[in-house]
Amino acid sequence: MRTQVAIIGAGPAGLLLGQLLHKHGIDNIILERHTGEYVLSRIRAGVIEQVAVDLLDEAGVGARMHREGLVHDGTQICVDGVRHRIDFKALTGKTVMVYGQTEITKDLMDGRAAIGAPTVYGAQDVALHDFSSDQPRVTYRVDGQLHEIACDFIAGCDGSHGISRQSVPPAAISSYERIYPFGWLGLLSDTPPVSQELIYVRHQRGFALCSMRSPTRSRYYIQCSLDEEVEAWPDARFWDELKLRIDGEARVCLVTGPAIEKSIAPLRSFVAEPMRFGRLLLAGDAAHIVPPTGAKGLNLAASDVRYLSQALVEHYHEKSAAGLAHYSDRALARVWKAERFSWWLTTLLHALPGSAFDGKMQLAELDYLFGSRAAATAFAENYVGLPF
Ligand code: FAD
Ligand code: PHB
Repeated sequence: MRTQVAIIGAGPAGLLLGQLLHKHGIDNIILERHTGEYVLSRIRAGVIEQVAVDLLDEAGVGARMHREGLVHDGTQICVDGVRHRIDFKALTGKTVMVYGQTEITKDLMDGRAAIGAPTVYGAQDVALHDFSSDQPRVTYRVDGQLHEIACDFIAGCDGSHGISRQSVPPAAISSYERIYPFGWLGLLSDTPPVSQELIYVRHQRGFALCSMRSPTRSRYYIQCSLDEEVEAWPDARFWDELKLRIDGEARVCLVTGPAIEKSIAPLRSFVAEPMRFGRLLLAGDAAHIVPPTGAKGLNLAASDVRYLSQALVEHYHEKSAAGLAHYSDRALARVWKAERFSWWLTTLLHALPGSAFDGKMQLAELDYLFGSRAAATAFAENYVGLPF
């Protein structure tokens, strides 16, 4: 088999890249380790920046998002029981879209099926070969049988535990990491959201987040310790703990119900540099991770894909190597801005074990955020997404 771009991973990064390349007449095959159902069962991001919305439109898969997604003009931050609002629209003129990653993935999968582009689900033992030469190859197994794809480029869109980054010789890559001493326990329920906007909660018992997927589906998170097990959190215990962290008005409005999904995610900041190794190009979580507090992970995956698809279009249609030469630097410049914002917001809102001084600094910083138009504007600009 031969294709122009072999894409590893059918998460949002891989599917979006495949769609944009196809639109420009660049053929591609996606190899995904899991089944489509499994990929759709992972409950993750919920907040989409305008630039990512625009890109999904450009890829021709934005129609349902515009029908069903919720446009948010601002967000609420609750500090020890008192709520404050950051008005994105007034401060930046921009808004965000609340629409689940699962729905985006589904729209991209449907879009790919509609154009008849190939995705191999259940691809085992994916291996990358010769990407430092002009003739890279990818091998994989399906039902025990070995297959090979010859290609011009390999796009590593296979998330943080994928094979693409691991295939790079250690001496060619530098990694930067911060592990946080806590995780998020998330619960999805078919209950109406507690508020029209997301509420980010800073509380002495720990961070909480009240988010949503639709007017009838809510997503809540509470900060938990790293050794916590989901089994130790029956629904009632989760709701009781959430109620202790949110403000009085939210407590009155909170509708509880059975969880349809519950999971724990550790929090991590991670960047691998560079993002290009010869004819292997990394995009999305394969190259970098942010803690979810800033809602930036999926959005960064989309912005990488924007740079990468433009670079490949320039390569094939304008015979220019400039986009590919600058891909890594361009993407990383945006990545580090999102890393800074996500790290800052995580440090600002979570209960930090052991330091009373750090707790006081959080309160002073939050006081500044709510009292200064410049600080609130900086927050809003980062949250809604910096311009390209
Ligand atoms: P992934 O979604 O991880 O997709 C990679 C794909 O590659 C997977 O399907 C995987 O099965 C496949 N794969 C892996 N290894 C191989 C292999 N060897 N061979 C073949 N295929 C392979 N981001 C936001 O922007 N906003 C939010 O509100 C937000 N909230 C979040 C909340 C939580 C709790 C979590 C955990 C994350 C959140 N994120 C958020 C982050 C966001 O979900 C990720 O950044 C996003 O999924 C990255 O997409 P991706 O395509 O790069 O990687
Ligand atoms: C979510 O709805 O899952 C979500 C929203 C905002 C975040 C993180 C997760 O910052």
